[in-house]
Amino acid sequence: MLNPQAADKHITAPFTETPIMETVSSLAGLRAVVGRWKQAGYSIALVPTMGNLHDGHISLLHHARECADRTVVSIFVNPIQFGKGEDYEKYPSTLADDKNKLEKYGLDLLFTPDLGQLYPGGTDTDTRINVPELSNILCGEFRPGHFSGVATVVTKLLSNVQPDAALFGEKDYQQLLVIKRMARDLCLPVEIVGLPIVREADGLAMSSRNAYLAPEERRRAPEIYRTLKAAAAGLRKGRSDLEAIEQEAMLRLEQAGFRPEYVSIRRSEDLRVPRSEDTRLSVLAAAWLGPARLIDNIKVRLSSS
Ligand code: PAJ
Repeated sequence: MLNPQAADKHITAPFTETPIMETVSSLAGLRAVVGRWKQAGYSIALVPTMGNLHDGHISLLHHARECADRTVVSIFVNPIQFGKGEDYEKYPSTLADDKNKLEKYGLDLLFTPDLGQLYPGGTDTDTRINVPELSNILCGEFRPGHFSGVATVVTKLLSNVQPDAALFGEKDYQQLLVIKRMARDLCLPVEIVGLPIVREADGLAMSSRNAYLAPEERRRAPEIYRTLKAAAAGLRKGRSDLEAIEQEAMLRLEQAGFRPEYVSIRRSEDLRVPRSEDTRLSVLAAAWLGPARLIDNIKVRLSSS
């Protein structure tokens, strides 16, 4: 996809290196490695993460390895995308385990910057990337500043790694669209790739935050996915009373013990409220279950009549 001649480049590239994963924590170290790769003509894929890696992250890594010659994973818990009172302080950190997983799956470079590397002027600096409209709806309404924090840190990562592609999960569907729009608007020479949600066997979307759930909450958690599936089934059957479907889904979640923030049916393309002729829809939800804020979404493709 990125580089159809990748295999040839492996043969002809003058630069060789050991297949062992490298870890760098400084921007200078990062730039040195990717600079060597670029000189050798390798294509590069970036997978930004906050660590505590699970199979959702690993699926991005697998895809990255397929589409580029060299893969960089970043692990950085980005303070400016967390609101006051959110879980920044307790966000799970499992670096040793993460490194083992990444080594096993053949990562080339792990970037683990500290705060000072990515925020040389401190985190209170006003220099931010803001993607209007898309950042203020759905999750953005409940987490003001969140998507600006995401867009800012991803811009820093993209401008230092200069990858050909950066991969993101559809689990955070709104985040994916914000990043795509940011890359488009800032004319960044990178392909933003979205990949499907990886789920547990019972349907719960994998997430680092699932670890916050007590066993009894964990048993109830897949109800969010079942609720979205029921809403999607209604749409497929031809229901067009979108607000009623959303309200039924909110009620169902409440009855299951969730505190839903929203269930919303939107256009997949831009998360706008659908018009009657739209056929590519997404049902999205955010709901608290005990201490965990869970998000999920499901795509619905209607046949055009
Ligand atoms: P994090 O939550 O660690 O997620 C890193 C990437 O993994 C994101 O692109 C996310 O969508 C993807 N991902 C998480 N769970 C997934 C699942 N179950 N299936 C598929 N993909 C999944 O998202 C972030 O970090 C941050 O906001 C970041 C983009 C790194 C910026 O700080």
